[in-house]
Amino acid sequence: KVPEAINEPVNSYEPNSKEVKSLLGKYKEMNEQEPIDVPMYIGDKEVTTSNKRVLTSPHDHQKVLGHYNYGEKEHVSQAIEAAMAAKEKWSNLPWEERASIFLKAADLISGPYRDKLNAATMLGQSKNVYQTEIDAACETADFFRFNVQYMSEIYAEQPASSPGVWNRLEWRSLEGFVLAITPFNFTAIAANLPSAPAMLGNVVVWKPAETQIYSANVLMEIFKEAGVPDGVINMVTTGGANISDVVFKHKDFAGLHFTGSTGVFRTLWKTIANNIENYKSYPRIVGETGGKDFIMVHPSSKADMVATAIARGAFEFQGQKCSAASRAYVPSNLWEAVKENVIKQVSSFKMGSPEDTKNFVTAVINEKSFDNIAEYIDYAKESKDAEIIVGGTYDKSKGYFVSPTIIVTTDPKFKSMVEEIFGPVITIYVYDENKFDETLTLLDETSEYALTGSIISQDRYAISHALRKLENAAGNFYINDKPTGAVVGQQPFGGARGSGTNDKAGAKLNLLRWVSARTIKETF
Ligand code: NAD
Ligand code: ALA
Repeated sequence: KVPEAINEPVNSYEPNSKEVKSLLGKYKEMNEQEPIDVPMYIGDKEVTTSNKRVLTSPHDHQKVLGHYNYGEKEHVSQAIEAAMAAKEKWSNLPWEERASIFLKAADLISGPYRDKLNAATMLGQSKNVYQTEIDAACETADFFRFNVQYMSEIYAEQPASSPGVWNRLEWRSLEGFVLAITPFNFTAIAANLPSAPAMLGNVVVWKPAETQIYSANVLMEIFKEAGVPDGVINMVTTGGANISDVVFKHKDFAGLHFTGSTGVFRTLWKTIANNIENYKSYPRIVGETGGKDFIMVHPSSKADMVATAIARGAFEFQGQKCSAASRAYVPSNLWEAVKENVIKQVSSFKMGSPEDTKNFVTAVINEKSFDNIAEYIDYAKESKDAEIIVGGTYDKSKGYFVSPTIIVTTDPKFKSMVEEIFGPVITIYVYDENKFDETLTLLDETSEYALTGSIISQDRYAISHALRKLENAAGNFYINDKPTGAVVGQQPFGGARGSGTNDKAGAKLNLLRWVSARTIKETF
């Protein structure tokens, strides 16, 4: 049996504790060091180019953390060659040896690399100490440990046999290589997408988001120190077009492990479809994509519980969580009490640099994201159908800061009520307290995405009714809670409709996509 997977304990970073001093010391050291040069990791080589692109901090955009080396198509080709060269040895390695490497990686993160990975995530992605601890340290270690456990369960599964006949399932890796494309918002996702297929004997070409390369570099250091052999995970830092043009034309392309926006995923899927004749096998396509996550409130609810779910669900992590609450349906009987409470809570949130532990909200990831969020806020300011009851300000002079903003609308199909914004903005629709059922219908009909959602209610019948009626509107459904905070091993994560293929990250379901089983029947 593999060691039992247990969630990495979350460090609370009490003020003046030795843990917080140690993390902030590392942050300072990395912030003050000379800018680093992040190479591409291709086979046994650390590749640099003359095309250097700058890496900065979102909360201090003039601060140069380093540069990365922008790869060309030839580098993507080299990464595929390196992966395919590593394939035979890696996939034939006994699975226990592969498992050991990732268990060691988890221990490196929970121990000697914790501060470095956390500090890199604070500097590169502007997460405060609590956000980075949950993401970079705990969720990353959890992915490695739980996936090892699920992998061992998969390999143990065997069919029945009968006298004179022995049936066996041989759990093989995919024939070819896997492409992992990762978003900026979670270091843990950046770690999981290449490592989950690799664990099962696959070789991987990994393209991190440009805005996540600073912490991706630390992940590569950890993979190497843990013993992932050269060529098994190849990190190429380039643009989407260079990746698509080379990978999707390659005969050995065997799978895509993607997390990011719905639009990009659909484009990739179409490109793969257009090249389908080129491949040896039908590629596995796994995508976790956008969301428009909701909080549905029943008239029986407690106003303070609703206000807290809105405040924490929408604004933790600057709303840059795929699961972040971005629309809420509040009944008219509760509205005044909820409004007063939520304004009080949100007005108390401090905003600023991530190294100040008092800051609840930090900067959003980059100028493009900042401008996009600001446009939604301005649209609401100018609309006769909406009112901003808290926030609504933004400033990009030093960093990309957007204050937590609540829009209240009289139109349930208002732009910010249905479109993903991916920032600290939530829109609330106040419905007639006698129209709970009609509002559930409306919610479902306006759910182009189906990632997370929650029902808040003291009435069991109402909860049960909402569960049934919204059964396709959220892959992760929460009762009397905010719709965020899924923990690996406890709430398998993923959604359907425009939110993805629902292969549940951090679960056996996901790992099953990276194996190609052979059934063997032997007759005596
Ligand atoms: P994004 O789609 O802009 O980028 C994701 C990745 O795709 C990046 O590495 C990017 O460089 C790459 N990419 C972009 N165009 C490409 C192309 N043409 N070919 C190949 N690669 C390409 O997303 P983002 O801004 O990094 O992340 C935010 C999005 O991710 C949001 O929509 C959010 O909901 C989603 N997300 C979903 C989940 C989930 O579990 N469902 C989790 C995290 C983030
Ligand atoms: N673990 C993340 C959350 O649900 C995706 O918040």
